[in-house]
Amino acid sequence: MKIAISGKGGVGKTLLAALLSKTFAESGYSVIAIDADPDSNLAATLGFPHSEKITPISEMSDLIEERTGVRPGQAGALYKLNPKVDDLPEKYSLEYNGIRLMVMGRIKKGGTGCYCPENALLQALITHLFLARDEVVILDMEAGIEHLGRGTAKVVDKLIVVVEPGRRSIETAYRIDKLARDIGLQNIAVVGNKFRSQSDREFLISSLPNFEFLGFIPYDQAIVDADHANLPIVDASQQVITQARNIYQTLLSAVQTPSPAN
Ligand SMILES: Nc1ncnc2c1ncn2[C@@H]1O[C@H](COP(=O)(O)OP(=O)(O)OP(=O)(O)O)[C@@H](O)[C@H]1O
Ligand SMILES: [Mg+2]
Repeated sequence: MKIAISGKGGVGKTLLAALLSKTFAESGYSVIAIDADPDSNLAATLGFPHSEKITPISEMSDLIEERTGVRPGQAGALYKLNPKVDDLPEKYSLEYNGIRLMVMGRIKKGGTGCYCPENALLQALITHLFLARDEVVILDMEAGIEHLGRGTAKVVDKLIVVVEPGRRSIETAYRIDKLARDIGLQNIAVVGNKFRSQSDREFLISSLPNFEFLGFIPYDQAIVDADHANLPIVDASQQVITQARNIYQTLLSAVQTPSPAN
């Protein structure tokens, strides 16, 4: 199962990535969680110890130079488009509670910044994780789908767009849907997060009439309180955990997945 998660800033992408990683791991699957949001905190959300000390791959200049032939920031040099990456998941991942985590760091966007060795390495690594690994892979992205390309689009089982009851997150969902279709990715679904009332749910459903809904997660003050207290927010709310399990079940029935190897 290969899952990518996107949506407007602050809608709950990282929370959902963490909840699903945890649910798959607890059900016996091997899980690789990928943090590809530069401002993100998937490690902390999952309760990884010393998460603030993790160095993202995009900041490992020596590694980037070793694999691509070019040091980040070196102007005009030709770097390898297909750097060797298959050993990186073992070398540069952290493991906690049965979840293997890789922190990617910032993908440069726009203008000439798009073409740089660090992007080449990150793209190759994400493609490798999606195409060549047997684990459940869960990718926590930014509001776009920059990390996915035509090559990975074919193997994404679900691109989950998280939305909250608000017009801007709906607009972002439509934008992401278009970007995804442009690269041939059609397995798109939404999860409604932070709803506080039945009318919030109805607003989301009526605003996204042609989208598949995988489930809804209620707004719960316990999540906010855990965040403030610096406690793992994935464990904070039983009703949120229950809804994450329902989303997990819906994913399993929507996507043909072999049972975890015992
Ligand atoms: N269902 C919920 N109930 C209460 N608070 C929530 C809920 N979902 C998320 N939050 C809170 O909203 C904030 C944003 O959540 P999260 O970091 O998961 O979103 P994100 O989409 O990954 O954000 P970013 O775009 O910054 O990466 C966090 O402080 C989180 O604790
Ligand atoms: Mg996030």
